[in-house]
Amino acid sequence: MEIHGSVALVTGANRGLGKAYAEALVAAGAKVYGGARNPDSVTSDGVIPVQLDVTDAEQVAKAAAELTDVNLVVNNAGVGVLATPLTANIDDARQIMEVNYLGLLRVSQAFGPQLAGGALVNVLSVASFRPLLTLSTYSATKAAAWSITTALREELADTLVVGVHAGFIDTDLAAAVPPENKIPPAQVVEATLEALRAGETEVLADDISRLAKAALVA
Ligand SMILES: NC(=O)c1ccc[n+]([C@@H]2O[C@H](COP(=O)([O-])OP(=O)(O)OC[C@H]3O[C@@H](n4cnc5c(N)ncnc54)[C@H](OP(=O)(O)O)[C@@H]3O)[C@@H](O)[C@H]2O)c1
Repeated sequence: MEIHGSVALVTGANRGLGKAYAEALVAAGAKVYGGARNPDSVTSDGVIPVQLDVTDAEQVAKAAAELTDVNLVVNNAGVGVLATPLTANIDDARQIMEVNYLGLLRVSQAFGPQLAGGALVNVLSVASFRPLLTLSTYSATKAAAWSITTALREELADTLVVGVHAGFIDTDLAAAVPPENKIPPAQVVEATLEALRAGETEVLADDISRLAKAALVA
């Protein structure tokens, strides 16, 4: 798809990977709406702040009703929590599913019908392919999000549906991870923009994602 001249909505655009997506899309010539729970926290030049908590059905419906020019959605908003299966707090596990899986699905439902000829980018993870023990409930949300992304690709036949997989990225979410084990957000963003331009449906942004996908296929 042509990014220059497209109209994008990025969820969770106020910091981390979402901020990097929003700024790169502006630089590539797109009009960009930056969704955030607190729109005042969207401060990037050229990004139009929009109040958007992906767990709030009314806010998502209102955004879709108002932003009728959007033809590219980046479902980026996400949360993480450290939890093994046996020690996970069930309320926390439900909440993370609300954001990472149901929030992504809610935004996809609201905007999907207007994306024909455009694209839906879902930010997934290497954890979609293989759970990490200490991030087990997070991994489950990313496996669910990968599954619904595949189904969305079938249903939104005229829309490029892209799944983005990466290991640790240098953002607040991975603050505890040593620097040598993280990639910069720009690496994920650049790989995604390349995939959009080339019409590719899957981004494997780093070696660990490529290895995990290959092991799954094998
Ligand atoms: N960092 C990694 O290692 C890594 C690896 C693979 C995939 N990912 C994925 O990359 C995406 C971005 O994460 P990040 O690394 O940039 O993390 P981050 O720096 O913690 O940013 C998370 C973003 O999501 C937003 N968010 C959280 N709950 C929300 C909600 N209910 N509605 C709307 N926005 C919400 C946050 O907004 P607030 O400021 O309001 O909290 C923030 O903008 C996530 O989907 C994550 O799972 C991250």
